[in-house]
Amino acid sequence: MKPVSVHGCIFFNEDCITGAQEHIQDNSVDLIITDPPYGIRGDTLHRHYNRNEQYVIPGYVEIPKEEYAKFSKRWIFEAERVLRPGGSLYIVSGYTNLYDILHTLYQTSLLEVNHIIWKYSFGVFTKRKYVSSHYHILFYEKPGGRRTFNAESRFGLAEKTADGRSPNTSDREDVWLINREYKPKKKKNKNELPPALLIKMLQYSSNEGDLVCDFFLGGFSTAKAAIGLNRRMVGFELSEEMFDAKVRELKPLRPGYLLDFLPAPVVSTIKNQGRSWTPQERLALASRYAVLKGQKLLKKAIIAILCEEFGRGRFAIEKALQKV
Ligand SMILES: C[S@@+](CC[C@H](N)C(=O)[O-])C[C@H]1O[C@@H](n2cnc3c(N)ncnc32)[C@H](O)[C@@H]1O
Repeated sequence: MKPVSVHGCIFFNEDCITGAQEHIQDNSVDLIITDPPYGIRGDTLHRHYNRNEQYVIPGYVEIPKEEYAKFSKRWIFEAERVLRPGGSLYIVSGYTNLYDILHTLYQTSLLEVNHIIWKYSFGVFTKRKYVSSHYHILFYEKPGGRRTFNAESRFGLAEKTADGRSPNTSDREDVWLINREYKPKKKKNKNELPPALLIKMLQYSSNEGDLVCDFFLGGFSTAKAAIGLNRRMVGFELSEEMFDAKVRELKPLRPGYLLDFLPAPVVSTIKNQGRSWTPQERLALASRYAVLKGQKLLKKAIIAILCEEFGRGRFAIEKALQKV
């Protein structure tokens, strides 16, 4: 099967394990975002959830439960190989076979950055148990290089909401509340991830021009978001029906089309933010603090002067003064 090249991205209608071995070089990918089949008979889920399958594209390839551990090991080892040192990996997983994914991750050199819970509302009815409404997102890095993490890509560190809270901090908590898109009457993959979820991972963990890989393209949601943010993309989907239907949707997209719609963060201009203090700076801070205190200024005014002079935020100055 010939690969399809769109907007400088390349997609293979192939098995991701042999496909990656053949087409992706070692240490070449900046970011992997992927959502493997869950090994829970995803091809028959609609029977339990009473879902209307009329608009779901057939051909979803599921992995039998008894093969899930071996399958996870094979593709995660490939993911480890292709990721560059410092590259990031996000795996979306349900809870049923989470063990197999985590067990494999522990056998690689990859390091855990965060274990994220993605919470969404789910319209399934249960009577004698709780309603499952979360997925796990395993965020790992390959050691040996600098990991991209654009902490201010969505909200500035100094931004505040009307009630005084930090949107930056809440956006970077490890529980994400993002609803699924139900797309009534549109052709879709069985488990399409919402664009908001993918955009968030792409913004924090990659830059324009970076190479992003999805081992399990499904409805090509990662690819659509990556193209929209001007990232390069490579990926695999085994189902021919899904691949043919979804790859066609990429052509009309304009690279970077999402950039115009994303809110611009108010980025902090604090000069030394994030830099650790040198012993000389700490000494200078201590002596300057003593001088200002001697002038009988209010603490608030002293801190404001020190922020200005040392190019630091209020919180950093207060913390450093505790050690003086
Ligand atoms: C959970 S879905 C991915 C959904 C996707 N993230 C989206 O938002 O639409 C998993 C996909 O992996 C595909 N798949 C299963 N085994 C595969 C393999 N060995 N190589 C490539 N794709 C595979 C399935 O056909 C299915 O479309």
